Amino acid sequence: MRLMRIDLSGQRALVTGGARGIGAAAAAALRACGAEVAIADLKGDPPVDVADTVALERAFEQAGELDIVIANAGTAIFRRLEETSDAEWRRLVDINLTGAFHTVRLAALRMKPRRRGAIVLTASTNSFDGEADLTAYNATKAGLLGLMRTAANELGPFGIRVNAVCPGLIRTDLTAGHFAQPELLKEYFRHIPLGRGGTPEEVAAAIVFLASPLASYITGAALLVDGGQMAAKFGIWDERMGRFAGDHWESGGSPSTTA
Ligand SMILES: NC(=O)c1ccc[n+]([C@@H]2O[C@H](COP(=O)([O-])OP(=O)(O)OC[C@H]3O[C@@H](n4cnc5c(N)ncnc54)[C@H](O)[C@@H]3O)[C@@H](O)[C@H]2O)c1
Repeated sequence: MRLMRIDLSGQRALVTGGARGIGAAAAAALRACGAEVAIADLKGDPPVDVADTVALERAFEQAGELDIVIANAGTAIFRRLEETSDAEWRRLVDINLTGAFHTVRLAALRMKPRRRGAIVLTASTNSFDGEADLTAYNATKAGLLGLMRTAANELGPFGIRVNAVCPGLIRTDLTAGHFAQPELLKEYFRHIPLGRGGTPEEVAAAIVFLASPLASYITGAALLVDGGQMAAKFGIWDERMGRFAGDHWESGGSPSTTA
């Protein structure tokens, strides 16, 4: 077998939410693999709101023919269920779910005639489980997997693969509040086999893999990028196994207690 490496030279990509965080890391990683990358972002130039169909369509037109589309733009509102207003619910659905729908629909319209393409959505571990105070966010992230799987069914016959990454807690602007609280992280990361949060680059690597020819037989898949969080039923880490070093657990003691 030849040395496997990801070569996306000659391919064009569009990343929504590509100005910051996971999207920016994905854009950089795609570029590092040789792709030409455009972004559509509220903080981009020009600003593009994925909830605005006209602005998003313009961004697609400017990007030209696309081989790879990453539907990543998203945000969160932390609110108790009964305190979530209609306006907050609608805004979250508009950005996280309808924005992704618009993105995937525009990608499909452009990729179908070319009979090729790869689409990756950024869902979440919260697509699968509940986390208090994130009703609207969790509902949109669960919805994304329905969108992804349906699109995989419809677009597979046209040579277009559709997959999702499901990150756990990743250090970005969105989660700056979490990462500013070591005590919270200590409890949170007890439940993560790898004992830490993730980096945008670690999610970007999974996005690039799914978008690349290395994933040529993968469609309709939701790839967890969570340090094992969703595989853990109970807390993994405690003081007998190691110590919490500010933002991660590190093992100490004998291998029998750390294995
Ligand atoms: N950080 C995490 O722990 C985590 C975990 C799971 C899933 N995610 C998902 O990853 C995606 C990226 O999040 P992040 O952590 O990188 O956040 P971030 O806030 O660092 O970056 C989000 C980017 O999306 C852009 N954006 C937000 N709303 C937009 C809109 N309406 N139109 C266009 N662009 C918009 C922002 O300007 C920003 O550049 C989101 O869908 C988020 O839900 C994040």
